Amino acid sequence: MSQPINFTRIVLNSRPVGDIEPQTFRPEQVSFASLKQKLGDNDVFVQVTWLSLDPAMRGWLRDVRSYLPPVQIGEVMRASGLGIVIAKGKKSKLPIGQLVTGTVGMTLSALFLISTNFESLYHSGWTEYAVLPEKHVTPINVPKGIQDIDFLNNIGMAGFTAYFGLKDVGNLRPGETLVVSGAAGAVGSLVCQLGKSMGAKVYAIAGSKDKCSWLVDEIGVDAAFNYKQKGWEEDFKKQVGYLDVYFDNVGGDILDFCLTRLKKDARIVLCGAISAYNSAKPKGLQNYLTLIAMRAKIQGFIVFDYENRYPEAVQVISKGLIDGSIKRKFHIVEGLEKAPEALPLLFSGGNTGKLVVKVADPKDVRAKL
Ligand SMILES: NC(=O)c1ccc[n+]([C@@H]2O[C@H](COP(=O)([O-])OP(=O)(O)OC[C@H]3O[C@@H](n4cnc5c(N)ncnc54)[C@H](OP(=O)(O)O)[C@@H]3O)[C@@H](O)[C@H]2O)c1
Repeated sequence: MSQPINFTRIVLNSRPVGDIEPQTFRPEQVSFASLKQKLGDNDVFVQVTWLSLDPAMRGWLRDVRSYLPPVQIGEVMRASGLGIVIAKGKKSKLPIGQLVTGTVGMTLSALFLISTNFESLYHSGWTEYAVLPEKHVTPINVPKGIQDIDFLNNIGMAGFTAYFGLKDVGNLRPGETLVVSGAAGAVGSLVCQLGKSMGAKVYAIAGSKDKCSWLVDEIGVDAAFNYKQKGWEEDFKKQVGYLDVYFDNVGGDILDFCLTRLKKDARIVLCGAISAYNSAKPKGLQNYLTLIAMRAKIQGFIVFDYENRYPEAVQVISKGLIDGSIKRKFHIVEGLEKAPEALPLLFSGGNTGKLVVKVADPKDVRAKL
């Protein structure tokens, strides 16, 4: 194995008050040999190949009580990712060259989940190399028809969020009307497709004409609305009328508008509120009284609560990926050093589909082993 003298990792430099700024993160050069010295008997030494960029990462920068502790100043920025085992401790059983994920993962062939272990999150993240306890990484075998980066998307956190949010929280039934915001993103574009496959009428909301065309032409929604175009709400009222399930990825004004469009017994799936993630104090809702009149429900959820059922989602979604009925799009950013400037794309709408960073080419990594 050829070894660099130093490698790059990116740490949290200062907590952003509003938008992520250039000084929010800073790169550090670290001696490769010093990291390798930390390799214990039960550890693996991983070269990171891909990283997932997620809206939740903005929340992890906030020093508040949440479902995960905040990333601390000076710590490597937390992220889920994929990597290849390039060295291992004496007691490690994983082979050199094994593809692994540092957060959630599974051996697809066996369709079982090994574990979701948050401890591993503290060791991987925005770095080219990491030493991880073997028990905190999950080996991945990529079946035919699946790409490695699908494990960061439709058969990873985004996919599980779409699947359980729609099925369990939304309780979508055939013939119902489903509305999805953030529809051209990783979670949203899968929710739209699952909604169609469950026999619903599906209407998408997204932030550009191109995204709306993609949603209609490729993803197969019944209609898509560009919320940045003035008067879109009138078009929505004419074409959609009222809705049974609103899968909300964005919160804010779009959620407030959808609150006025509820049918009786409607369900609002509070998946995310990206419009509020950069503000210290989110804007309040005006139209929530319709929840009473319509006997409607609004429910938040966190995907990790469905951990023991991930295999069910993997089975359904991987089948769709393999037979081509589920479409996906990746927005790929090349190079770890680009991660800090790429993360804000999620907030400006610069991505269509799943935003990922290619840190190293898996073929190059394996060729050097
Ligand atoms: N509850 C959970 O367990 C869970 C798990 C994973 C993700 N999530 C949530 O799911 C949502 C989608 O995540 P993702 O990974 O799939 O991201 P994504 O949709 O791929 O990317 C974010 C998209 O949000 C849209 N957006 C940004 N600012 C907006 C604003 N002010 N108003 C309306 N739309 C805005 C942008 O698209 P446009 O061009 O359309 O504006 C952007 O492309 C996020 O809110 C995330 O926090 C929740």
